[in-house]
Amino acid sequence: MRKQSQKLVANQYWLIGCLALIVGTFLASSNVASAQGLSRIHKDDGSAYLEMQRADKAAGDYHNGDLLICSDCHVMHGSMQHNYEGTTSGVGNIASFPWSTTPSPSLLKFADPVDLCVSCHDGVAGIPDVIMGDINGLTERSGGFFDEVDVLNPRGHNLGRGLDNSGSNLCLRCHFGGDFATASVTCLDCHNTHGNGNPRNLQWASDPEGTPPLGLFVASGASGMSRYERANVAYGTTNDLSLREPTNMCTDCHHTLTGSYTDQDLNGIHEKHPSYDSERGFPNDIDQGLVRGTTNPAHWVAGTGQGFDGTERVPYVNEGGTDYATAHVIDSSTNGVLCFSCHKAHGSASAFGLVWTINGGIDNKGCDQCHLGEGR
Ligand code: HEC
Ligand code: HEC
Ligand code: HEC
Ligand code: HEC
Ligand code: HEC
Ligand code: HEC
Ligand code: HEC
Repeated sequence: MRKQSQKLVANQYWLIGCLALIVGTFLASSNVASAQGLSRIHKDDGSAYLEMQRADKAAGDYHNGDLLICSDCHVMHGSMQHNYEGTTSGVGNIASFPWSTTPSPSLLKFADPVDLCVSCHDGVAGIPDVIMGDINGLTERSGGFFDEVDVLNPRGHNLGRGLDNSGSNLCLRCHFGGDFATASVTCLDCHNTHGNGNPRNLQWASDPEGTPPLGLFVASGASGMSRYERANVAYGTTNDLSLREPTNMCTDCHHTLTGSYTDQDLNGIHEKHPSYDSERGFPNDIDQGLVRGTTNPAHWVAGTGQGFDGTERVPYVNEGGTDYATAHVIDSSTNGVLCFSCHKAHGSASAFGLVWTINGGIDNKGCDQCHLGEGR
């Protein structure tokens, strides 16, 4: 019964969404500020919780609070004859002084925000590198990596210039003439420009202000670039507004890949692979497959053999994990499968940004960590 009502809520929600999209599109063309509020993807509004989290945080992530350095991204008059020490050696994205640039809107050092971000986040030692090869030589970057800007990338997200994510413009990238296959993303879709207190300043692309706290944790002993190692990152959720699994932010653009879309008739047999979605009432755990023998929890817990041979344990979300220590726990009754179990947020060396190395198609690697011998 509970599941039935969830389905109803989901359906009504999308109906409202559909109408809102159309209305939103009209409003956007007439520049009405409330367009964004109308085309809501999420049911949650986590802004109050995020505000609490921000106040709690003595030292937040970079580009946030005390670590929001304006001059990383802005220049007041389009030129500088020397650096802040009075010398001519370069810093960050300025190779050497004197330096000047073509003045850009919002006093940005580059005309397009993506070029601004990439000027530091590609090939600068000591700054996490998110494009192709890693200058910092990490074992495995947690978020993975993109291809160059404006290149169609079959191994993850396409990074593009000139993207507007205000109002329903975000929706138009894929709807009403937009093309999902060739659409692109920009850093500011997923990362809050001026810091929001969330890990990595992650946000909902369709409603930045409403973003709830997201459960991405870095091992407390990690420092410097190792804070961005996959091995030092874990995911948790409390299944409510006070802490959502981080892939809650993927829903903004991939809204039909989770929730009731994965089990449309709610009979427990999936039509799309389940992915943890606490907001729409569809969490999961590896134990749940025991009933029909669809998963093999003992194999997941053991962590060796088929599926694990030649590939690391895939990332998972731990229900009840509220910091790295409580999220980094192997327990098949609380470990769930989420987008990050299979995909890197940015992209990877494998097709579709998959977490493990593939050869042509998908074989037992990765999949059989949870599904040993099942379905064959
Ligand atoms: C990581 C890069 C970055 C840093 C650091 C940064 N900004 Fe910005 N800022 C931007 C971008 C990009 C925009 C353009 C607006 C947008 O697209 O979100 C912007 C826009 C602005 C605007 C225009 C209003 C707005 O929000 O659109 C103001 C004012 C501003 N920034 C002030 C500051 C101040 C003050 C600081 C330091 C305390 C700062 N910024 C630090 C990237 C940055
Ligand atoms: C002037 C160089 C510079 C620019 C420009 C810049 N960054 Fe950064 N960014 C840094 C540095 C330095 C760090 C922190 C590295 C460290 O952990 O020591 C960082 C960290 C980050 C992090 C991880 C935060 C954390 O603490 O976990 C994110 C996300 C990020 N940047 C996004 C962006 C985005 C998006 C833009 C463009 C709007 C941008 N950056 C522009 C230098 C820059
Ligand atoms: C701002 C909108 C947006 C958000 C948010 C977003 N995506 Fe995407 N995603 C896209 C678009 C557009 C495409 C299709 C074009 C492309 O490959 O970039 C895509 C494609 C993908 C693909 C297929 C890539 C390929 O090579 O075919 C994967 C996998 C993916 N996204 C995973 C995720 C995950 C995981 C998240 C959450 C961390 C996420 N996305 C969040 C817009 C988004
Ligand atoms: C990354 C591409 C992408 C973006 C960006 C995107 N959508 Fe979608 N949307 C899809 C896909 C794919 C479907 C499924 C279409 C299908 O099944 O025919 C979909 C379906 C929908 C549906 C129908 C849902 C259903 O149950 O069939 C609605 C409503 C919708 N989107 C609204 C929005 C709104 C509002 C936005 C902006 C906030 C948005 N979309 C942004 C890709 C996108
Ligand atoms: C589709 C959403 C999305 C886009 C677009 C995106 N990021 Fe990220 N980014 C994420 C997520 C999610 C994480 C956390 C990944 C994890 O740890 O699993 C992340 C992590 C990071 C980190 C931490 C390093 C790491 O490997 O985890 C940095 C730095 C960063 N992003 C910068 C950028 C920059 C710069 C851009 C634009 C060139 C960008 N991101 C575009 C979603 C995105
Ligand atoms: C169990 C592993 C797994 C999980 C969990 C998973 N995916 Fe995928 N996804 C894949 C694989 C594998 C592909 C490549 C297509 C295929 O083999 O079916 C793919 C393809 C995609 C595509 C491209 C679809 C297309 O039309 O080209 C997108 C977008 C995507 N995934 C996003 C997501 C998002 C967002 C989530 C979380 C809500 C997610 N995936 C969860 C394994 C997974
Ligand atoms: C981290 C664990 C995990 C990984 C990795 C994983 N899955 Fe799953 N998968 C699950 C869980 C949990 C379910 C839900 C089982 C249930 O409810 O019966 C599931 C369900 C499925 C189902 C539907 C079963 C049904 O009848 O409802 C298929 C098919 C499937 N997975 C295939 C794959 C494939 C193929 C891969 C690799 C691309 C993969 N899975 C990777 C955990 C995982």
